Amino acid sequence: MKELQQQFEHELLKCRTADDVEVLRLKYLGRKGAVQAQMKQLKDLQADEKADFGARINKLKNYIEEKIESFLRQILEQQRAEQIAQEHIDVTLPGRSSWAGASHPISVALRDQVRIFKDLGFSVQVGPQVESDYYNFDVLNFAEDHPAKDMQDTFYIEPGVLLRTHTSNAQGRVMERTSPPIRIVCPGRCFRNEEVSARSHVFFHQIEGLCVDETSSMQDLAWTLTEFANKYFQRDDVKIRFRPSYFPFVEPGVEVDASCTCSGKGCQLCKYTGWLELGGAGMVHAQVLRNVGIDPEKYQGYAWGFGIERMIMLRHAIKDIRLFSENDLRFLHQFPSV
Ligand code: FA5
Repeated sequence: MKELQQQFEHELLKCRTADDVEVLRLKYLGRKGAVQAQMKQLKDLQADEKADFGARINKLKNYIEEKIESFLRQILEQQRAEQIAQEHIDVTLPGRSSWAGASHPISVALRDQVRIFKDLGFSVQVGPQVESDYYNFDVLNFAEDHPAKDMQDTFYIEPGVLLRTHTSNAQGRVMERTSPPIRIVCPGRCFRNEEVSARSHVFFHQIEGLCVDETSSMQDLAWTLTEFANKYFQRDDVKIRFRPSYFPFVEPGVEVDASCTCSGKGCQLCKYTGWLELGGAGMVHAQVLRNVGIDPEKYQGYAWGFGIERMIMLRHAIKDIRLFSENDLRFLHQFPSV
């Protein structure tokens, strides 16, 4: 066994690589290796010789294992040292830029718009996204057979419970629990069972406004919305235009347009009309006031509901509403976080 050890040491000295050592390991410690061959001799020995012989084989085996391990460690350290010696830092390379997180453009718009309305004396209320059909439709004077109540237009969770189709659902809730004067805005997400296209989505955001007091008028509505449009579109010459329209909860009802940045000359954004559509508005219907216990002989109100995505699209000339929900960083990074 002494000879075996010397032979191993001699051969180890000749090893240069981890592969060389592996060959050596198999030669000595493998199943058909030299140490195993010694083990096989155990069975031919007398009982009193076996213990001593067995111990010496084990010692040799441990010795070989240790030597191989330390040789491999040495090779690894040597390789690492060579690698470090080759590496160098090029201080002239440009630094790696990192991306800063930013608020989503819809969050930024909601925040900006709420701030504008707060400055105009409105406070913020939120309505639930999962709503009863009473607050989404019935209290707002929708007829029992109104097409919007159809499952083809509205996502129902269960009979009588739906995903709100507009932020107008906040109107009834607020008017029921608050006595006039009321001045609130209600921003949030809405859902409609509609075909997704460049201008429409199944979910989108609106900002609702409601003012109820003894003297409010269409003129106040026009002034409020003109102020808002000037501030939001960051101009001071925005004009507001009302086009007659129908919503069951307002009378008269109107669609609201803001004058385009092209000042009436016509451009792609306004499709050469000079006007940009913001949403619907009108004077709160007397029946809605009655439904929530407010006397329409004494009080009157105005309300509006604008589409947030469409307004951002107008402000930033974005052509497709689907971009807002695709999480494409190339799109999102174009909106600075303010
Ligand atoms: C309404 O939702 C009314 N509740 C607005 C209202 C409030 C009228 C208060 C009177 C008084 P309308 O369905 O037109 O109205 O939607 C208003 C705006 O929401 C639209 O002009 C549009 O900007 C946006 N909008 C509506 N549906 C979608 C959709 N599927 N995808 C994206 N935006 C939408």
